[in-house]
Amino acid sequence: MAIETYISREKIDQRLEEIAAQINQDYAGQELYVVCVLRGSFIFCADLVRKIKVPVEIDFVAASSYGDAKESSGAVRIDLDVKKDITGRNVLLVEDIVDTGLTITYLNEIFEARHPKSLKLASLLYKPARLKHDVKIDYLAFEIEDNFVIGYGLDYAQKYRELPYIGIYSDD
Ligand code: IMP
Repeated sequence: MAIETYISREKIDQRLEEIAAQINQDYAGQELYVVCVLRGSFIFCADLVRKIKVPVEIDFVAASSYGDAKESSGAVRIDLDVKKDITGRNVLLVEDIVDTGLTITYLNEIFEARHPKSLKLASLLYKPARLKHDVKIDYLAFEIEDNFVIGYGLDYAQKYRELPYIGIYSDD
């Protein structure tokens, strides 16, 4: 197996500054309920919220559609839900990657039904080549090619999440 650096930590940091600036502008004078979609977005979310200047509350949701393989099973299950009622709040879902779009479409439906004041999506990565569901990403860090990526929170069979950069994983 081999890991090739795809997006460096410096590039990630720079891009997160830009996204945070946009978020700070869009939510000026308001409060944000940040929902970190576990597990893949824990590092992205931690770095992003430290650049956000409006008051935030942070909560977590876990959904699984992948198991230990590289392909989605096609079904989404909520393993952990947020702790508070999000009715009337500005909710920002923070995802690691929009691949087929299945997970986020499902989460969007569930959260929309709870009547938030607003519901937006921030995603670290987006792989348009594999998209199967219509997903609107309000704050996107990087659009990427159809590669299986790891690091900066993303895993392959629960490994490599700790890498400080985003890498491309290959079996050779
Ligand atoms: P989707 O439901 O197909 O959009 O997939 C979403 C989930 O699949 C992400 O939250 C990731 O956990 C996982 N995933 C998709 N592509 C990759 C990848 O390239 N590397 C690691 N995880 C991935």
